[in-house]
Amino acid sequence: MTNPFIRIAMKPTHKITFQFISEPTDVNFGGKVHGGAVMKWIDQTAYTCARTWAETYCVTVYVGGIRFYKPINIGDVVKIDAYIILTGHSSIHIAIDVYSRKLNEPTFTKKTHCVIVFVSVDADGNPLEVKKWVPKTEQEKQLETYALKLKQLRVDIEEEMQSFIK
Ligand SMILES: CC(C)(COP(=O)(O)OP(=O)(O)OC[C@H]1O[C@@H](n2cnc3c(N)ncnc32)[C@H](O)[C@@H]1OP(=O)(O)O)[C@@H](O)C(=O)NCCC(=O)NCCS
Repeated sequence: MTNPFIRIAMKPTHKITFQFISEPTDVNFGGKVHGGAVMKWIDQTAYTCARTWAETYCVTVYVGGIRFYKPINIGDVVKIDAYIILTGHSSIHIAIDVYSRKLNEPTFTKKTHCVIVFVSVDADGNPLEVKKWVPKTEQEKQLETYALKLKQLRVDIEEEMQSFIK
């Protein structure tokens, strides 16, 4: 008889995918999926990716440039890909792609993209060194270059925002 209590070993991975069907409770005033619901899914998926890689508690330090390309319908299949594109000393930079498709259609269409940065922290909330992610494929190397460009752009944006933050 097979053991019903199957255990699956989880290795630290740099990629996570969630799939589910959007629910009636996710609705906005226009009858489509609420942007806030999408942002929550993005945060949950990205956190799972960061936490799995770091193997420590992590906090969100930055969420940037969420672009909603097209609305997502209630009852559609939603797929969220989260993948590491850069690691620093304590930071993990994660790209997110959100796709959806009608239940009776085979093809997903990209609906949203963004990059989230998490920091691995200790019990006192201080940054902890994180294991390095090394890009291997040509696409991963391009993604790391993309993340480094965004990092520089963030410095410029934050300088611009300084006078409004205080
Ligand atoms: C995350 C936190 C611990 C970082 O503390 P800090 O004093 O800024 O620490 P550091 O200056 O050493 O920065 C730590 C890392 O954050 C990164 N970071 C800081 N500001 C950033 C920004 N605006 N965008 C992206 N990364 C940033 C740094 O580049 C650094 O990465 P590295 O170690 O890979 O080089 C602190 O800012 C914090 O607790 N923030 C609140 C987190 C939180 O509550 N999140 C939930 C929001 S609802």
